[in-house]
Amino acid sequence: MDVVQIRGGKPLRGTVAISGAKNAALPIFAAALLTDEPCVIENVPDLSDIRFMIKIIESLGAEVVKAGDNAWQIRAAELDHVATYEQVRKMRASVCLMGPLLGRLRKAVVSLPGGCVIGPRPIDLHLKGFKKLGCAIDIKEGYVQMDGSRMKGSDVFLGGRHGSTVLGTANLVMAATLIPGITRIDSAACEPEVVDLCRMLVSMGARIDGIGSHILTIEGVKQLHGCTHRVIPDRIEAGTFILGAAVTRGDLTLEGVRMEHLGALLDKLEECGLSVARNGSPDSVRVDGRDLRPAPVDVITLPHPGFPTDLQAQMCALMAVTPGISVITEKIYPHRFMHVPELQRMGADISMEGASAIIKGVDKLSGAPVMASDLRASAALFLAALAAEGESWVQRIYHIDRGYEKIDEKLRALGADITRKNQEEMPAHFLPET
Ligand code: EPZ
Repeated sequence: MDVVQIRGGKPLRGTVAISGAKNAALPIFAAALLTDEPCVIENVPDLSDIRFMIKIIESLGAEVVKAGDNAWQIRAAELDHVATYEQVRKMRASVCLMGPLLGRLRKAVVSLPGGCVIGPRPIDLHLKGFKKLGCAIDIKEGYVQMDGSRMKGSDVFLGGRHGSTVLGTANLVMAATLIPGITRIDSAACEPEVVDLCRMLVSMGARIDGIGSHILTIEGVKQLHGCTHRVIPDRIEAGTFILGAAVTRGDLTLEGVRMEHLGALLDKLEECGLSVARNGSPDSVRVDGRDLRPAPVDVITLPHPGFPTDLQAQMCALMAVTPGISVITEKIYPHRFMHVPELQRMGADISMEGASAIIKGVDKLSGAPVMASDLRASAALFLAALAAEGESWVQRIYHIDRGYEKIDEKLRALGADITRKNQEEMPAHFLPET
């Protein structure tokens, strides 16, 4: 079933448990390939992207078994070095297999990732970094052929025209843990997901200094051992639910949240008139949007600790029904506005100026059939539909299943009128002309 029917206008009320972070779990699964000992990964979200990653590392020879609810044991006693196009094209994040394969085997053949609706997804910085560490790289027939036999530690500047690279940093750090010498990465990404990966690597015996800063220093060791690691909560899922409480004027308690991972969003929401408070236990927050009269805000997405690009689309949904004019500028993926035409179908008043969305808030959005295009655009359409008057049908929701665990179940438990349906159940007047 790949559509959902949402009848809007119901405030989200109650308590929601935030799942483990997809963008931490994916490189962490890759990191388990750095050792031939078992690694147990806990608090893993049940997502299609995770299932893809499991298939890919199994095809490389790893043994992956369930180790409890949301927990997996990975053991790469044997390891192959080729990740095929068939595997990589389904999930771009599989490029982060390069680092572990080079660290463990000193060789890798990984398909170049395909394109992506949010814009070009180059890996030039990854390859620049590996070359700096002495890796010989040849790109042939869509594959990156890597010979790491002469790799050794070196200084690498990893900043690009859009700032640091999250998976590029993860890739370099993973390789550097097992190559001889000292690697110093300048302009490293310091997203919480990178910090979580580094903490897991240290628990496996890696030597990493500067964790959480833009300068990481890694001293290579001979081998790494197994570990048990609990993935951090998903700050983007948490931010999405917080924005859901705001846009539906709801009242939510979120369990399993790290407020320190949400600084930029909470700062913007305070400017907008919404406060988010710790709610007793350290990993619980309460968002009371019942009396919210939101003020328009300007947002610019930046690398962490700046406003996360993965919450940009969801912020557009809130600003679409916030009186006044807001400007949301995308500095990480300038084309990441596929949600705008769909929000316009629901009555949003948004005009584009380059990589900025100029949003004039309207009183109400109206339900409509809309098309999901990518993971976070889907989340924005869900939020808009929850707030809109009338019925919406969000199509191609396999996009949202990549990054939000049981999203319809969680929303229904909070009072949303949301149901998964088959495409043919969409009312005829909604069905696209055949
Ligand atoms: C990670 O992607 C996330 N994915 C993305 O989340 C997130 O949007 C992104 O970081 C930015 O925070 C995972 O962690 C699996 P980047 P990543 O390399 O690492 C440019 C989601 O919705 N760049 O930090 O691939 C790039 O084009 C996904 O969960 C280069 O120019 O992103 C972009 O403009 C979407 N050359 C910027 O840097 C490179 O070699 C940041 O990209 C690499 C990146």
